[in-house]
Amino acid sequence: MAPADIDPQGFHDFELAGWQRASDDYHRYFGSLTMQTIGPLLDAVSTGTPGNLLDVATGPGYVAAEARRRGFSPIGIDFSQPMVDLARTLHPGIDFQFGDAEALALRDSEFGAVVMNFGMLHLARPEAAIREAHRVLRAGGSFAFSVWAKPEEAVGFAIVLRAVEEFADPNVGLPPGPPFFRFSDRDESARVLEAAGFRSSRVAQIPLIWRLESPSDFFEAFYRGSARTGGLLRAQAPEALRKVREAVEARVAAYRRNGQLEIPMPALVVSGRKP
Ligand SMILES: C[S@@+](CC[C@H](N)C(=O)[O-])C[C@H]1O[C@@H](n2cnc3c(N)ncnc32)[C@H](O)[C@@H]1O
Repeated sequence: MAPADIDPQGFHDFELAGWQRASDDYHRYFGSLTMQTIGPLLDAVSTGTPGNLLDVATGPGYVAAEARRRGFSPIGIDFSQPMVDLARTLHPGIDFQFGDAEALALRDSEFGAVVMNFGMLHLARPEAAIREAHRVLRAGGSFAFSVWAKPEEAVGFAIVLRAVEEFADPNVGLPPGPPFFRFSDRDESARVLEAAGFRSSRVAQIPLIWRLESPSDFFEAFYRGSARTGGLLRAQAPEALRKVREAVEARVAAYRRNGQLEIPMPALVVSGRKP
């Protein structure tokens, strides 16, 4: 989708509404999955003695919590107040603040490290957030973010999006946002980081596996626990949604192993250093 087709404010508000309703279900269904990139993310920004770290789009605060265990002094920021409240409940003693990734209310050159775990693909203005990460980093500090690999590899997305195309309406009039899988392209990710002034950019693919109890949990994860894909599902007519659900649950059942679902959901960890 060309930038001219994007409605940044409409998309921002749509995402905000989605994340205000999804906090508990996101934590329930996606937490064990998105936690799998924390190690590689923190490794990518660890260049000596751990200092202060900003976890942007912190959600339930998983990265900030592990960063504290590793000796960093973390702050987590999210624009969804229910997410901030959940993070504070789950990880007492960590500073979680309400704030927008695209316009951080923080001073220049304040942090030794900035991370964003699966936030980039939800932003209306990702370049603005990358510029903000660069601004609040000290010289020599590092920024790392994670995104899903393309749906051909992160097969959970392929299952849901294909079923919507087959049985429902993929164009239900949601506010148009940046392409969801834009940063799944290694070259594009590295290019955008370098354009914002980062150097030594690196992209690593991490082989995540999403373990869930049942096909119904898989559908509910997207329907209740996500903003964009959930919004697409929630906007469908009841009969179309019923068919999508049936197809999704039948297809994901093929990933049953040892009494549970094991769905390949690889991710990319992209990082760069502020010179
Ligand atoms: C997919 S969740 C990732 C949560 C968490 N980082 C994790 O490791 O699982 C995306 C998070 O980004 C937050 N978010 C989306 N757009 C944002 C923005 N413009 N500013 C701050 N947070 C944002 C949402 O509220 C949500 O908590």
